[in-house]
Amino acid sequence: MSLLLVSNHRDMAPFKAAIEKIDSNIDVEIWPNVKNLNRVQFAVAWRHPKHVFSQYPNVKVISSLGAGVDHLIQDKTIPEHVKITRIITSSLADQMSDYILTACLNIIRKTEIYLEQQKTGKWKVHKTYKKDELTIGILGLGELGSKVTKRLLINGFSVAGWSRTKKMIEGAETFAEDELTDFLNRTNILVNILPLTNQTEGILDLGLFKQLKQPAFLVNAARGEHLVSEDLIYALDTGLIKHAVLDVFSEEPLPESHPFWGREKITITPHVASITDPDEAAELLVENYKRTLSGMALLYEVDREKEY
Ligand code: NAP
Ligand code: GLV
Repeated sequence: MSLLLVSNHRDMAPFKAAIEKIDSNIDVEIWPNVKNLNRVQFAVAWRHPKHVFSQYPNVKVISSLGAGVDHLIQDKTIPEHVKITRIITSSLADQMSDYILTACLNIIRKTEIYLEQQKTGKWKVHKTYKKDELTIGILGLGELGSKVTKRLLINGFSVAGWSRTKKMIEGAETFAEDELTDFLNRTNILVNILPLTNQTEGILDLGLFKQLKQPAFLVNAARGEHLVSEDLIYALDTGLIKHAVLDVFSEEPLPESHPFWGREKITITPHVASITDPDEAAELLVENYKRTLSGMALLYEVDREKEY
């Protein structure tokens, strides 16, 4: 049996080393250098080439290398019987909480304006927002969103959260799927940490922006396909949204010619909000590999019907 690591984008050597450090008996191979295609039962994928899994007739489980599984759900060549899992670690939630907290603090302290002013040696004081003046609304209260909410709460922010099924998080105001309008109407800083599914694709559009409380801001740390780019540009140009912090894009790397570059009202980071750590991920991958071989229930298995 072997465990296959597949990615077009990420160096898989550190993951192989981390898995072998935990259990040197596991035969770990890195695509495309696979000795025997029939021996692969467990695969780990990040932005894999489409159709690649049709070469491995005995694969039973594919784990995403990250928290998101949209790249696997969207690959219709993966047979229905193949189970999909994902990586959830405390460091993924911790990094995401740091990223969102930083973005929100920068918004209330108007950091971007001062960075612009510094370029021309301009000394001008701007009134900051008080923490209790703006409500942060979190789209998605899952493994990451719930931790982000708690981090914002302990830092003194007012937080609201929206998820398909209503959640209880002490100190936060929470809303279920059919309460989106109520949630948006009290949200100033909208933070997206939803999974990308058929239902959530394009959710960040003009209709949604118009329902936000003013002044309004956007932080997208989930997937680029959640956002309708032209609608964001219109919302920024008309003042409907004052500033956007974007970590994810429908095309990555973001092409040089993209209109988002060079806009003062957009802060761009290159998909770094939360990065899977090889040592932490290896613990979970080895556990799920062993569960696969012994037919046990997997950790963090994805519901392929729900798409997350
Ligand atoms: P998760 O545990 O699966 O949680 C998803 C949350 O979204 C749940 O609360 C779920 O509601 C809610 N949700 C799903 N579909 C919905 C819908 N149609 N309407 C309302 N709520 C809906 O996901 P996670 O682990 O927190 O990760 C979220 C996403 O973050 C990933 O899918 C990935 O795209 C992104 N991510 C980005 C980075 C980065 O570096 N930028 C890093 C890691 C992850 P229920 O609770 O009711 O099911
Ligand atoms: C990163 O984007 C992830 O899904 O873990």
